[in-house]
Amino acid sequence: MSGTFDGPHVAIIMDGNGRWATGHGLSRSAGHEAGLRTARNIVEAAVREGVGTLTLYAFSSDNWKRPGAEVTALMRLFRRALVGEAKRCLENGVRLTILGRRDRLPSSLRHTVEQVEAITSTGSRMHLRVAVDYSARDAVLRAAEAMRGDTMSRDGFSDLLARTDHDRLPARDVDLVIRTGGEQRLSDFLLWECAYAELLFVKTMWPEFTAADLAIALEDLRSRNRRFGLAPEQVAS
Ligand code: FPP
Repeated sequence: MSGTFDGPHVAIIMDGNGRWATGHGLSRSAGHEAGLRTARNIVEAAVREGVGTLTLYAFSSDNWKRPGAEVTALMRLFRRALVGEAKRCLENGVRLTILGRRDRLPSSLRHTVEQVEAITSTGSRMHLRVAVDYSARDAVLRAAEAMRGDTMSRDGFSDLLARTDHDRLPARDVDLVIRTGGEQRLSDFLLWECAYAELLFVKTMWPEFTAADLAIALEDLRSRNRRFGLAPEQVAS
């Protein structure tokens, strides 16, 4: 697998669609539509920038508590997005998988997820993971249950965690989390995988986040002194 998905793992909390829409006198649904356009641009930009894995937080398990009409509109949007993106992903060498529980998704969406994952499974340039009905704490609980009392290495647990959430590829720690929309929290996103992630919180609302903003974030990541618990002189050598 050497050479496959080599670049950094960037994870994005795409926040601010609703506030952006309200600020422009639009419906929240229009905000999510604009968010989808941004997601498309950022996926393309991430491929160009050499990102190895891009995980986008599209719908948390707690988002089921939103008004029914918004949830239904989001599920429709996800299905349309997946259908629309499959061909482009294939052309760009992007492998697309969905992270999270599947049993509560509408069956039409579940079916589309399986099709798109199969169609793009040969992609080796970038792994795009879209988190839908995702909760890091639930994932950790389910993986811990699957251990059935066994002891395990950190790497072994990471892989088990990935499998628990239907990721057939080996798990990867996150290098950089970007959260748009001005809030500074992780909101139950990849809590295990973010143990040594660099965090970047930006005020820009997700629909206004651009390829140039991603490039700046990656430049920022490259400039950070990542020590993973070591002393500075150990890292410099
Ligand atoms: C958070 O903004 C955004 C969401 C819950 C939905 C995100 C979905 C997309 C951007 C569409 C992308 C889809 C794919 C398949 C990649 P919010 O509604 O919480 O905004 P607010 O905090 O301003 O209310």
